[in-house]
Amino acid sequence: MALLRTENVDYVYGAGTPFVQTALAQISFSLEKNEFAGMVGATGSGKSTLIKLLNGLLRPKNGRVFFQEQDIWKKGYDLQALRFSVGLSFQYPEHQIFSDTVREDIAYGLKNQGISEDLWDEKIREAIEIVGLDESYLSKSPFRLSGGEIRRVALAGTMVVKPQVLVLDEPTAGLDPIGRKMVYHALKRFQKESESTILVVSHSMDDVAEYADSLIVMDHGKIVDKGTPAQIFANTANLEKTGLAVPEVTRLLKKIKTAGFSVQDTIYTMEDAKNELLKLLKGEVKDE
Ligand SMILES: Nc1ncnc2c1ncn2[C@@H]1O[C@H](COP(=O)(O)OP(=O)(O)O)[C@@H](O)[C@H]1O
Ligand SMILES: [Mg+2]
Repeated sequence: MALLRTENVDYVYGAGTPFVQTALAQISFSLEKNEFAGMVGATGSGKSTLIKLLNGLLRPKNGRVFFQEQDIWKKGYDLQALRFSVGLSFQYPEHQIFSDTVREDIAYGLKNQGISEDLWDEKIREAIEIVGLDESYLSKSPFRLSGGEIRRVALAGTMVVKPQVLVLDEPTAGLDPIGRKMVYHALKRFQKESESTILVVSHSMDDVAEYADSLIVMDHGKIVDKGTPAQIFANTANLEKTGLAVPEVTRLLKKIKTAGFSVQDTIYTMEDAKNELLKLLKGEVKDE
């Protein structure tokens, strides 16, 4: 049973105006419990629109959205409860930070959900720890932190309420490689410890390839491909048609193969690429 799914969903902006724009057409996809899924696609392909449909922020023109097999637009459905279960983190979440301290910022979600204040300290400590920051951060001003730190604080604020599904729009946009790694490590840890389901939207193939169990590829409002990273990156021509770059390590190995070395070219993680290149350097891989 899928935890969250859409069935033939269409979404149109500006219906009934001269600016009508079809953002999504016939989208059917599902997320299983405990899945770490990635959604990739060029700018304008419909990613942000789709995730807003998942927790009922937008209502589809046609089609249905189900959470735990309940139609979320059925009369009487508790959309507010849904928004607590399906946590959505927007792009650049730090733009929504306005608290004086990190602690206050993380507590915001707890307050919103009416969670008893006696429980806050423990939950806040747990959340800051998951994102790899220590407790000394709690009394700091968010505005004095680095870009990567402030992003992790925002993430802790989303995680603290333990949503069953965590949906993140471009969580690593604008971060350096170390900052990106920290964010993905925090997500992996959260998924493992709270058995949650994660959907990450990204236009960086390198990131999602490394961490996601499954990928959805969007192009012009449609899902054009889905599968494991290995399946998706085996067909790079299809991917490049949608204007997406294959991960840099995949590209590198394909080049090495084209140059006449018999390396595996379906590699998409840094670790596998390193091992394959070491084998080549040690002469275990023979040129053809
Ligand atoms: N508020 C809006 N009003 C009108 N059109 C929009 C709006 N938001 C997005 N769109 C259009 O819908 C399409 C999908 O956009 P979006 O979901 O933001 O894609 P992505 O997140 O993949 O960049 C684009 O053509 C975009 O121009
Ligand atoms: Mg977007």
